[in-house]
Amino acid sequence: MRIALLSRNPRLYSSSKLIEAARARGHEIDVIDPIRCVLVVSRGGHRMFESSERAGKSPRDLVGYDVVIPRIGASITDYGLAVLAHFERAGVRTVNSAQAIASSRDKLRALQRLSAHDIGIPRTALARDPRSVRDAIAAVGGTPVIIKLLQGTQGVGVMIADSVEAVESMLDTLWGLGQNIILQEFISESRGQDIRALVVGGKLVAAMERRAREGEFRSNLHRGGAGTRIEPSAEVTHAAIESTRIMGLDVAGVDLLASNEGPRVIEINSSPGLRGIEAASGIDIATRIIGHAESLVAERSVHTH
Ligand SMILES: Nc1ncnc2c1ncn2[C@@H]1O[C@H](COP(=O)(O)OP(=O)(O)O)[C@@H](O)[C@H]1O
Ligand SMILES: [Mg+2]
Repeated sequence: MRIALLSRNPRLYSSSKLIEAARARGHEIDVIDPIRCVLVVSRGGHRMFESSERAGKSPRDLVGYDVVIPRIGASITDYGLAVLAHFERAGVRTVNSAQAIASSRDKLRALQRLSAHDIGIPRTALARDPRSVRDAIAAVGGTPVIIKLLQGTQGVGVMIADSVEAVESMLDTLWGLGQNIILQEFISESRGQDIRALVVGGKLVAAMERRAREGEFRSNLHRGGAGTRIEPSAEVTHAAIESTRIMGLDVAGVDLLASNEGPRVIEINSSPGLRGIEAASGIDIATRIIGHAESLVAERSVHTH
């Protein structure tokens, strides 16, 4: 099959592993930088092409793909999703739809979706007025409290505050900068540890425990955390698979905290990094993702013939 990999940089670990895995299974794979794509809409039709770096060379029309694998970084979410939606409109299958990626990127929206189902999540509040800070903190269980930017990633934008005064001063700054934030119950039992579960095509394919470095509560590998493979409990497996399904994602990295009341989902990543989890688990996740893309395309040809 012909695969389009939406990625800004084919040399990044996750992209290069996907390229390698696709070629090893006999597929053709093109890397498309979403930023270089031009979308043209006109009466009765639309078109998309990637312009050439060299003057005089004609642009490449982006047609003929069976499936798109989006690896859209947080810095280009909107543009990347517009490109992805364009492929969807043309009838190309996608390993994560634009709509599912959009809802999982917003931490509040994702938790709202999960809260409508029986999935454990930390108590979370959205607030926007200095006069409501005290009540919002009380509503999530008091201090210490976690403050998160709605769209943060890799641990950037996740803070902890020990007192109401500290929260107020942090929110003064963040609101002053036009940032929307959520206040969240601090799951102290997790002690700087979380679980990252990788779900592909409705199955949990790998899980690791991440431990924050000394003096840090965020266990992200980008913040110096270390990952080790674990055999997830039935509860963790269920929560990870169910939250991925509820968000409508094909591939997801689900972050969970172990709390006294069982696992709580904090975040669902639609473009999970593969390096850390492949290293910790020894599992070739890129090949699983390509396998899932194959099944989407096979499913489609059963429906259309
Ligand atoms: N409510 C919480 N209680 C305790 N620790 C948390 C909480 N929320 C996040 N953390 C820690 O901070 C890390 C980053 O939070 P997360 O919501 O996954 O944001 P990001 O998108 O930046 O990864 C988590 O992996 C976890 O270690
Ligand atoms: Mg996270």
